[in-house]
Amino acid sequence: MKYNNVKEELKHNQKTWLVTGVAGFIGSNLAEALLKLNQKVISLDNFATGHRYNLDHIKNSVSPQEWENFTFVEGDITNYDTCKSITKDVDIVLHQAALGSVPRSIDNPVVSNNANVTGFLNMLTAAKDNDVKRFVYASSSSVYGDSQELPKVEERTGNVLSPYAVTKAVNELYMEVFYKCYEFESIGLRYFNVFGKRQDPNGAYAAVMPKWIGQILNGEDLYINGDGETSRDFTYIDNVVQANIMAGMTTNADAFAKAYNTAAGGRETLNNLYQAITKGLKNNLSGLPNHLHQYQLPYNSTEQHNRLLANLCYRLSCDSL
Ligand SMILES: NC(=O)c1ccc[n+]([C@@H]2O[C@H](COP(=O)([O-])OP(=O)(O)OC[C@H]3O[C@@H](n4cnc5c(N)ncnc54)[C@H](O)[C@@H]3O)[C@@H](O)[C@H]2O)c1
Repeated sequence: MKYNNVKEELKHNQKTWLVTGVAGFIGSNLAEALLKLNQKVISLDNFATGHRYNLDHIKNSVSPQEWENFTFVEGDITNYDTCKSITKDVDIVLHQAALGSVPRSIDNPVVSNNANVTGFLNMLTAAKDNDVKRFVYASSSSVYGDSQELPKVEERTGNVLSPYAVTKAVNELYMEVFYKCYEFESIGLRYFNVFGKRQDPNGAYAAVMPKWIGQILNGEDLYINGDGETSRDFTYIDNVVQANIMAGMTTNADAFAKAYNTAAGGRETLNNLYQAITKGLKNNLSGLPNHLHQYQLPYNSTEQHNRLLANLCYRLSCDSL
């Protein structure tokens, strides 16, 4: 079924979705999109990296009637009892709560493992035990590790290169095993460099796009990985929202227990990104030149999303770009 048809169906057929990590970038966009489709949204966050003001942004983006369908619980996915009670009477889980960032996981692998592996297993088990129909979760392009193959295809990952990538690879193993052992339906989405509104520009572990935009607007110097010619696949948030909703709603049994590249399928160098951002922001700039410093070695990523297209009828959208 096509995305527009799925959205139309949802408007007349209310379901209960649980969005974890709702105070973060991707979770808050998912909750907003679901509320606008007249869905009931239960949500969870412990504000480890998310912000209360993102909940206000959601409230301000939807109608008062839509907002009545929103419930927020402050809690931690590392607590199994919290996961058990929050998954009660839920139809579909969109599990986003995790500690992102490769450098963060290298600085503190135990903390990343607690949230991303223990927390994930708690959520997966609780959802299964409460007979949740579908469990969709955030995996990551980092599972490709040292693979040099381009484009990236789902069946061929490399050796992982960070504790963060280990946590996402473990999530995928649990997904497969829960399908084999319990026939529990889950789908992983390997996000590639997502960008869009409510992405946090602050902190040591901020993603490159919001970080550079913030630094350019503040007239600060920028740092770039390597010579800037490394390419990445930057994925607009609306495409991630679409992939989550299609994964939550698909009735295609071939789609279950698999992970999908969730990306734009493009390749943009960091130098081009810098040029595009400065061009786009030129009216907001004070006139002070920014300096672009080069450091560290990059890692490449680009991929294709044929599997997503085939199994979940995903179509790239850039409506709101
Ligand atoms: N943004 C990207 O480009 C990208 C790429 C690949 C994968 N991902 C994955 O997508 C998901 C969402 O990422 P994001 O960019 O929105 O990050 P984010 O940091 O903005 O959001 C994550 C949210 O999870 C919450 N959280 C963390 N630990 C928690 C815990 N123990 N209990 C409850 N809540 C907890 C945080 O407070 C935050 O609100 C993550 O799983 C991340 O690993 C993101």
